[in-house]
Amino acid sequence: MSKYAIIGGTGLTQLEGLKIQQATLVDTPYGAPSADILRGTYAGREVLFLARHGHPHRIPPHQVNYRANLWALRSLGADKIVAINAVGGITSEMTTGQLCVPDQIIDYTSGREHTLYAGDLQQVTHVDFSYPYDENLRRLLIAAVAACGFSCSNRGVYGCTQGPRLETIAEIARMERDGCDIVGMTGMPETVLARELGLSYACLSLVVNPAAGKSEGIITMSQIQEALNGGMSKVKTILQHLLKA
Ligand code: HPA
Repeated sequence: MSKYAIIGGTGLTQLEGLKIQQATLVDTPYGAPSADILRGTYAGREVLFLARHGHPHRIPPHQVNYRANLWALRSLGADKIVAINAVGGITSEMTTGQLCVPDQIIDYTSGREHTLYAGDLQQVTHVDFSYPYDENLRRLLIAAVAACGFSCSNRGVYGCTQGPRLETIAEIARMERDGCDIVGMTGMPETVLARELGLSYACLSLVVNPAAGKSEGIITMSQIQEALNGGMSKVKTILQHLLKA
């Protein structure tokens, strides 16, 4: 049976209802992961949980040790990774509260440790990344969202920015021209590292604000917090469904 790991993002630093059996701080060749990795049962199934930004939430997106996180999850036996991300909405379907299971990603980050194939190597390796997300896992997630009766975009292009600042209106307009539907700061290099490690990886994104220039006025943290409060309870319901299936 496959072993799921959940990577919780902003608004999901802990998974209430997870019956924790063990918390492990894994030592990796890349340093320490964001937090102890929790192993426990959720919806009756054994699962691993990692808070991407630490617990409490303290590591900004550009300082997350993505390599250590993914390596550590695999070392504990994970083979399916479900990543949860809070994002801004760019295209018209992506209103606050909307869920999206993206099928493509564009990387706008810079300066992050973005590959395991670095350092003193014996050979050069290029992984295929045409389809960045695992299609089977995407389908399972989409089915779980539908079974819970929530509205969801079954496709979408995730644009990953460097942060921690939010974007300018011109940057979002450019991203829209590039074909991005949603914008977040944590999709990369997490997605490609999962591929390099041979892990199935898919992402469930929750829109928590209209991206810059997509609403009147500026983006406030209180508006984001409000959307997170409502939206993450939906995400937990979906995860329960996914895992008990
Ligand atoms: N931009 C980038 N990342 C985000 C946003 C945003 O508007 N909202 C939540 N994460």
